[in-house]
Amino acid sequence: MILLVTGGAGFIGSHFIRLVLENRPSYRLINLDKLTYSGNLENLADLAAHEAAKRYFFVEGDICDAGLVRSLFSGEHPLFDRHPELRYREAGSPISAVVHFAAESHVDRSIRDASAFFRTNAEGTRVLVESARIHWGIEPPASKSLYRFLHVSTDEVYGSLEPNDPLFREDSPLRPNSPYAASKAASDLTVLAYVHTYGLPAIVTRCGNNYGPNQHPEKFIPLFITNALEDRPLPLYGDGRQVRDWIYVVDHCRALLLILERGLAGEIYNIGAGEERANREVAELLVLTMNKSTDLIRSVRDRPGHDRRYALDVTRLKSALGWKPELSFAEGVKATVGWYQSHPEWWKRLKDQAFWAYYREVYGSV
Ligand code: NAD
Ligand code: DAU
Repeated sequence: MILLVTGGAGFIGSHFIRLVLENRPSYRLINLDKLTYSGNLENLADLAAHEAAKRYFFVEGDICDAGLVRSLFSGEHPLFDRHPELRYREAGSPISAVVHFAAESHVDRSIRDASAFFRTNAEGTRVLVESARIHWGIEPPASKSLYRFLHVSTDEVYGSLEPNDPLFREDSPLRPNSPYAASKAASDLTVLAYVHTYGLPAIVTRCGNNYGPNQHPEKFIPLFITNALEDRPLPLYGDGRQVRDWIYVVDHCRALLLILERGLAGEIYNIGAGEERANREVAELLVLTMNKSTDLIRSVRDRPGHDRRYALDVTRLKSALGWKPELSFAEGVKATVGWYQSHPEWWKRLKDQAFWAYYREVYGSV
């Protein structure tokens, strides 16, 4: 089994790669990543010392580069000459499955400039499914079931809930509100169109808010932890009563591996831990966990178009595949705070000049 993972140097992708290498000794894994500001090979640096590193191959590149993507699906990329063990099939594509994480992922950045979001999230996804269709299509139909294209998407495509609305289900209408969410909805619909039109054996997953080690400090939880560690103000948008459905990143990755191996082609699966929390509550839990003062929390101008609430119905994933989360929010937050406390070299390097220039644009003088 050769997995092509896109965006594996990012937050969730790097946890997924580690989970697969540690638990699936027969899998080989190619990580295609452009290394944008959010891609970080240090996320996987610990692998180098492990036996499993022999089954891991990194290719720096852009998912929008159709020639590069085609060469990976066809086995013509120089990587396959350097590593003949990757040519394990007599004919057809050496890639058995794709797990597609690569994306521009931060809502605030999409509000400032959405161009990279539509390029990578919408067009990049189209390039990938097109290559999969062409190269997987040359196999006899019976073996198509061996292939899988797992598209990692988000609950933000469903839009926003009011406090008493029922949870998002897989058949809820798509009502994306931010440019980021619109670009992800475009990617979901593209993948599903390829399922419908060409029979591409693809699956779409929609997960809630992830948190855990290695998340870029632009995002809410790592921003608040790292700012608090430096006694800087914690900028809480608006009234702080927006609700998110939080999941520990490794629980998300365990669900993805299960869906990859046992999920139904053509299906959509919501992924969530049912840990709905208001932002203010999360901010207070973080400062409490870190023995800091709640005075650090400052209300700032709200995010434009800020979605009020996300919450997912995960009945399908639980009843069909038997998944359940392993970490409670309280346990996950403790582990996450502990990781940022013990890895200052990881996050301090990311809070560089460019980061603070971005920060001033979004938050003003806070
Ligand atoms: P991230 O920003 O940490 O990582 C994205 C990765 O994609 C980076 O390594 C980056 O270098 C790479 N990348 C960006 N553009 C690329 C391109 N054109 N070609 C190749 N690589 C490129 O993001 P994340 O938080 O790990 O999210 C991963 C995926 O999961 C995204 O598709 C996101 O929409 C989805 N998702 C995220 C969350 C969350 O809470 N973080 C929740 C649900 C779904
Ligand atoms: O729901 C899944 C989505 O979760 C993913 O698809 C996105 O890739 C991921 O970035 C995340 O989107 P959010 O916008 O929900 O996450 P973020 O961490 O940016 O913000 C979480 C909440 O915290 C949100 O209501 C906005 C608020 N917030 C965020 C920041 C960065 C603040 O109050 N202050 C902040 O400084």
